[in-house]
Amino acid sequence: MEKKFYIQTFGCAMNTGDSLMIESKFYEKGWEKVDAVEEADFAIFNTCAVREKAENKALANIRGKKTLFTKKSGRRLAVIGCSAQNKKDEIKEIIPFVSYVIGSDEYRRFDEILDDYEKFRKGVFVKENIDELYEEFTGNYIVDGISAEVSIARGCNNFCTYCIVPYTRGRERSRSADLIVKDVQNLVLKGVKEITLLGQNVNSYEDGDINFPKLITKVLEETEIVRVRFLTSHPKDFSEELIDVIASNERVCKFVHLPIQSGSNSVLKSMNRYYTKEDYLEKIALLRSKIPNVAISTDLIVGFCGESEADFQETLELVKKVRYDSSFTFHYSKRAGTKAAEELEDNVPEEVKLARLRVLIDTQNVIVKEINRANVGKEFTALFYAKEGEIYKGKTSGNKVVKVTSKENLVGELRKIQVDDVSSWSLV
Ligand code: SAH
Ligand code: SF4
Ligand code: F3S
Repeated sequence: MEKKFYIQTFGCAMNTGDSLMIESKFYEKGWEKVDAVEEADFAIFNTCAVREKAENKALANIRGKKTLFTKKSGRRLAVIGCSAQNKKDEIKEIIPFVSYVIGSDEYRRFDEILDDYEKFRKGVFVKENIDELYEEFTGNYIVDGISAEVSIARGCNNFCTYCIVPYTRGRERSRSADLIVKDVQNLVLKGVKEITLLGQNVNSYEDGDINFPKLITKVLEETEIVRVRFLTSHPKDFSEELIDVIASNERVCKFVHLPIQSGSNSVLKSMNRYYTKEDYLEKIALLRSKIPNVAISTDLIVGFCGESEADFQETLELVKKVRYDSSFTFHYSKRAGTKAAEELEDNVPEEVKLARLRVLIDTQNVIVKEINRANVGKEFTALFYAKEGEIYKGKTSGNKVVKVTSKENLVGELRKIQVDDVSSWSLV
């Protein structure tokens, strides 16, 4: 009988990508994937360390599965990813029945573990110097058959003072442009229509003289891919050259995720973000002048060390000014090992953080609803990914979800649509 594995992924698209790579290793060795941990011989939890509460909750949840992982059960458990990298041996203390702790640079260990399954029972594999690129694996990042993700870089050099990612993922390194193009060509052959180029800061991509705008151009020229997206852009490196590439190519989606984090210059400075509110607004203005219909999303943190009520009001003002199509909002979580944890005081009380978060989310929701409502009657081009019941689900170039009923199969099709109505977060 085939052995069964279960994998659960927390955190960002980088982790999703890594999980897909690991899945492909299991498939190669003849394993079958199951959706319930109870049915698995081998369970893998790919963890995220970006916020403390979420990290602790995930680890406590795994610990709560103790009765599933008794010696007698024969089941194995791997805790991998950013918490494994970040906490190393501590994971064994929190989850004593763990079989493997595997850091983000040690996923090749799965080859040995699966090849020698009966013998290779336990281990902690966490590298200090994170430099792995997994160059040859990333062609497997298919998300739903129509869209796929292609990792172009790993790690981050920015050291925003609040952020754990540079410690869990190591220094930034770029994959070769030729291999990225090869990945996209292979995905096109498999029927993929849309790719998302992925990195913590895609704008600092570099392979010889190929920077990020040139990489996009190369992918467009050398492949038949219908649509290209990318994530994430750091405002300090978001260039006019990139804006021009987005503006002049129909195949590049008119959607930019540009995390501002805060609308206050003093907070931005203590976050080590290397731009001011004014720099940011200038880039937004340039972006909108060259691409009038561009959709913009962002990440925001409230309650960072030293954030005053006035600082928070500046964030609210900025959100109202930019009118984001969507946003991810967080309250600051102190992460041991970061500069903020060591040198700044986490002095905004929890209830103030949560109250500010509430106000920010409410403000943003009103704006999103207004933007969505204003779309009624407008035309968009949508790519369709899936069918759910009688409804086809797609996305506009600006990343808005579209729902259409159709007698004809729309999956994989790029079609003009007209918006009749809006439901809470999608266009009908
Ligand atoms: N590389 C991306 C995203 C990294 S993590 C970028 O630079 O934008 C995703 C988001 O989590 C960040 O943009 C930030 O808003 C949030 N985040 C990171 N560390 C955090 C912390 N310690 N507390 C709260 N939110 C945090
Ligand atoms: Fe974290 Fe900043 Fe790097 Fe983003 S750019 S991953 S927020 S350190
Ligand atoms: Fe991503 Fe979380 Fe790691 S956001 S890089 S999975 S810490």
